[in-house]
Parts: sequence; structure tokens; C-alpha cells
Amino acid sequence: MQTRILTGITTTGTPHLGNYVGAIRPAIEASRREDVDAFYFMADYHALIKSDDAARIERSRLEIAATWLAAGLDPSRVTLYRQSDIPEIPELTWFLTCVASKGMLNRAHAYKAAVDRNTETGEDPDAGITAGLYMYPVLMAADILAFDAHKVPVGRDQIQHIEMARDLGQRFNHLHGGAFFVLPEALIEEQVATLPGLDGRKMSKSYDNTIPLFAGGRKQLREAIMRIVTDSRAPGESKDPDNCALFTIFRAFASESETEAFRRSLLDGLGWGEAKQILYERIETDVAPMRERYEAIMADPAALEVVLQDGARKARAIATPKIAALREVLGLRPMRTAPTRATPPGAPLKQARAPRLASFRDSDGLFRFRLFSADGEELLLSVPFADPKAAGAMQKRLKAGGVAVALVQAGALGMALQIDGESVANTSEYADEASRTQALAQLSEALDQLVAQD
Ligand code: TRP
Repeated sequence: MQTRILTGITTTGTPHLGNYVGAIRPAIEASRREDVDAFYFMADYHALIKSDDAARIERSRLEIAATWLAAGLDPSRVTLYRQSDIPEIPELTWFLTCVASKGMLNRAHAYKAAVDRNTETGEDPDAGITAGLYMYPVLMAADILAFDAHKVPVGRDQIQHIEMARDLGQRFNHLHGGAFFVLPEALIEEQVATLPGLDGRKMSKSYDNTIPLFAGGRKQLREAIMRIVTDSRAPGESKDPDNCALFTIFRAFASESETEAFRRSLLDGLGWGEAKQILYERIETDVAPMRERYEAIMADPAALEVVLQDGARKARAIATPKIAALREVLGLRPMRTAPTRATPPGAPLKQARAPRLASFRDSDGLFRFRLFSADGEELLLSVPFADPKAAGAMQKRLKAGGVAVALVQAGALGMALQIDGESVANTSEYADEASRTQALAQLSEALDQLVAQD
């Protein structure tokens, strides 16, 4: 099975060397792996939280998309899209908002830091804080949960957000008794260098110490490199490679042997001016061909628009049926049949947990249903039905007869359910015989309970 990796890039800035080394390059490498299904998107709704400068957001979206493609991302291999092209994301944001505890959001780092700043300066705690900032983690959870991402590559500052996404997914699963969402995990790449900036601190727009990746061309790249802070050791004096930003940046681009040679030269007294020239040339070797592609893409935004529209289509092929299924679960369904009985007044809000069937319209336009165990585990996925009524009728037969009518056929490692010789649904494949035996017991129990319900 492929691991689905998903990450978003807030579209407020222009990509710099630190973004390239820390995020873009590793993400593109990951996307080339056979066992990875990569989803990368421009978090332009998140950008609205941070900026009301429309021109800046517009420019940043273009620059970021162009950068990723120029750096080698293959849009036919991955799903590359803009958050704002996926209306299911704000819809899911609302569903998740309704299960999010306000207390959890109060504890979000970014919001808390803003409150602390206000408190320190004697302001009202919430002065100048938008509800957008407050809701930031819920929007981010929707980004992730809408696509059932397994792994989310992020910086350390985002770990809390991934935990909140797990929390929200879990709450929803629990409340509605089903495995509706995959619970995501943060992926922190330990080996990936955080690049130091001009002043030696982490390269970051907020420190104003960045080296541009493509913007300004070769000239600005060189100028920025010449401004990297060094100590005052003169040419001929031995330098300390392990304590200089210049060397760390070099290492992020060079091979091991190149790095070793550069280290030697520094130890042997290479002058800083020359060292910077060597660094510039090494980076330029990697960047020049990408820059050429970048400029070509930037010159033809309409072609890029087509690529992103295509990405949105791929992304929505997953999100649309998913949200449709959630709407059903939440009671937001077309009024075709009489509603199932409402909770009697005074009854505890949560009913005893029971197995349940859930229908949905799949990305291929056909109708399917799933059977979930009382613990919310997915037990069965039905065959496709062209007509929702046929899917409904089959579920009725299953409810009416349960195990008594259904015949479970064991395949290689999965199982198939048949009614009157007709194939109805399948389990997933099991790792081994033992787990299949256990699953069979679980399935029989769920089918039994299903019959007992009505
Ligand atoms: N908040 C992330 C950041 O600032 C950007 C982002 C938005 C994101 N939605 C996401 C990252 C979903 C990963 C998954 O870096």
C-alpha cells in the first residue's frame, strides 16, 4: 500500500534557499518514491489569515507553484493543487469546528502567543486577534483529514497542529461511530538541514536573513551570499568550518567529497571572499537549470493555471465523495426516505455503539456502502451500484437476513460476501491467516447485531 504524504505551503512569501533545502527538495524526492502518494498544495486560505495584501498572495501563489515545478515536481505523478480550489475543505472545516473543543483551540501556540503579547502590553487579551487565527488549526486539520493523509511533513513548529488534526479526526470518528478519517502523523525529517541564514540564525523571512532561490536571478543570489556573516579571520588564518553558516550552506548542496575538500580548504586558511565565491558557484550549479525552468513558467501563468486546475480535479475526485459520505453521517442527506428514529427526548446523547452501514457516492460516480463494526472499524466495502436505490435495497437485504442470508467466501487473504450467489461486498486483505479468522468472527458478530437492530 502507498503512504499518502500531504503538505501545504502558506502562500505569503517568495521561496528562499532555506525553503528549498528544508522542504521543497525533500518533498520532491519523497514524491518520486514508488510507495508514496504525494499531495502538495498551496495553503492560500491560510495565507488570508496572515495577510490582507491581495497582490502579495497572488504573487506568492504563482511563485510557489512555479518553484515547485521548476525544482522538478512532476504534476502527473503527484496531486498539486490550491487549497482555495477545493470547496470541500471549508465545508469539512465547519464539520470539524462543530466537534472542536474551544479549550483545545485556546491552547494553540500561535493564538496563545498572540494573547500573551497582548497581556504583556496591557491590552485586552484578544485585541487584534481574528477568529481566522483562532481557527487556523481546524482549517489545517480539514486540509489533512479530507484526503486521509497518513504522513504530514512539517517543521517542528507545526507538530501541535498535526496533533490537533488527529484529535479532531478521532473525536469525529468516535462521535459518529466509524473510521471516517485516517489519523495523520507528523513527519519530521531529522536529516534535513535547517539552513542558517545570512546572520547565522535559522534562515527565515521573519528574521530577514534569507537568500533568494530564484528571485532576482544569479546576481541577487551572489550578492546575498557575499553578505553572509563570517568572523574576522584573515586569508591564511585557519577557519572553523563547524561554526560557520557558509560551510553549513555549502554542505546542504555538495557531495560528501566536495564537502570534505571545502572543509580542508577552510582549515588551511582559505579567505572568506574566495570561500563565498566557491559557495556561490556550487549553489549556482544546482540552481541555474531550475531557474531557467522557473522563468519559463513565470512567463506563462495560463499554462500553470491549467496544471493547477487539473490538480484540483484530481484532489476533488477524493474529497467530493468523502464529504458526501460525511454529510450523510451528519444527517445532511437528501429527503428521499423517512428519517431513522430520532433520539427520544431525555435519552443520553450517545446511543449504545452498534455496527452500521454507510452509503456514499464514490469518485467513479457509482454508489457503494461500507459496514463498520461497533468500534468503528471498517469491515466491508460493497461492490459498486449504478443506482443508489439498488445499493439501498442490498443494504436492506443484509439487515433483514444478516449472516443467515450472507455467505462469506474466503479468498486468498480477504473475504467476499455473497447473497444468493450474488457478490455484494468485500473485506480488505489481511496480513495473515490469524487476522482473517479474527476478522471473520468480527464480521459475523457485526452482521448479527445489524439484524438485531431493526
Ligand atoms: N500551517 C502550515 C505552515 O505554516 C501550512 C499548512 C497549511 C499545512 N495546511 C497544511 C501543512 C496542512 C501541512 C498540512 O507551515
